[in-house]
Amino acid sequence: MKPVKVGLMGLGTVGTGVVRIVEGHQEDLQGQVASPIVISKILVKDRAKARSISVDHGKLTEDPWEIVRDPEIDVVVEVMGGIGSTKEIMLEALERGKHIVTANKDLMAMHGPEILAKAKEKGCDVFYEASVAGGIPIIRTLIEGFSSDRITKIMGIVNGTTNYILTKMSQEGAAYADVLKEAQALGYAESDPTSDVEGLDAARKMTILATIGFRANVSLEDVDVKGISSVTQEDIQYAHQLGYEVKLLGIAERQDDFISVSVQPTMVKRGHPIASVNGVFNAVYVHGEAVGETMFYGPGAGELPTATSVVADLVAVVKNMKLGVNGRQASVSYKEKKLKTDEQ
Ligand code: NAP
Ligand code: HSE
Repeated sequence: MKPVKVGLMGLGTVGTGVVRIVEGHQEDLQGQVASPIVISKILVKDRAKARSISVDHGKLTEDPWEIVRDPEIDVVVEVMGGIGSTKEIMLEALERGKHIVTANKDLMAMHGPEILAKAKEKGCDVFYEASVAGGIPIIRTLIEGFSSDRITKIMGIVNGTTNYILTKMSQEGAAYADVLKEAQALGYAESDPTSDVEGLDAARKMTILATIGFRANVSLEDVDVKGISSVTQEDIQYAHQLGYEVKLLGIAERQDDFISVSVQPTMVKRGHPIASVNGVFNAVYVHGEAVGETMFYGPGAGELPTATSVVADLVAVVKNMKLGVNGRQASVSYKEKKLKTDEQ
């Protein structure tokens, strides 16, 4: 059996989880795809850095083009983050016929249409399940599970770091800055946590979910965003007195042909399922015209939950390679959206 060769870009929180799962679950993975899956090169910023996992040092490179130009590599797994140069690297990898799995919501929210168009042109897959809600398979659920329905609302907690902070502030009276440091140490936060606490990470995820769920081209600029950096302990105590919890909620709604998307700290009545989503957990509520209400819950960030989604995408890519087909996202063409304005 010829192995499928993977170029892994990034060996931080998520990349380490990918190595652990590909190695630890190799037999199960091979059973599903009938080929060994081998990580043959790994991109890092600093080869000399101490790692929490033992890897063959000879596989490490600091040059992304070494992976892109390697004709033996079938799939690039991008878990290094970044937008501008990462986009160029991804486009060149596609140009050379490599499939892509990415956890990068920044990239997909801002440049998804261009990357998916290139993938379609080159007959490649680009899968990005881990970009939204970590270990919850929400993207494939929206694409495949609800293909028969018309979704009218997607709402939920899609950022683990801010939910972790709000939970600790609510349950333990902890100070915002201390809990943010904890979330960073646990590998939940972005390299620049401003995007978590100011709501941008959630806005990027809501852009992706609304685009897929409503089958419309939603852009990040259309999302109203407010983060949690100004939420105080007093706000949380006041909400408690009224019987509420404060949560950073993403809300995307469609009414007829109009779409609105927002991210903001919201008072959620205790007793509502979303009020009891705590810590790093995420929850996504989806309402469809036919199905009615559904809700999906699970860990929204962290090494192994996120890597579970990345490696599941890798398995899907390899299955497609074997069948000679491309799947899911690349084949979808979306209608232009109309924006809901204040006057409507
Ligand atoms: P991280 O811990 O900071 O790891 C980033 C890795 O990429 C590191 O190994 C780093 O190398 C390498 N890297 C970064 N920039 C590079 C460059 N320019 N050239 C070469 N190597 C580079 O990040 P992470 O938390 O794993 O997140 C990775 C991606 O997954 C991001 O897009 C993030 O938004 C997304 N994501 C993260 C989570 C999560 O829970 N952490 C969940 C879902 C999605 P060194 O090790 O040498 O520094
Ligand atoms: N920083 C992100 C979060 C990682 O806390 O949700 C998962 O996308």
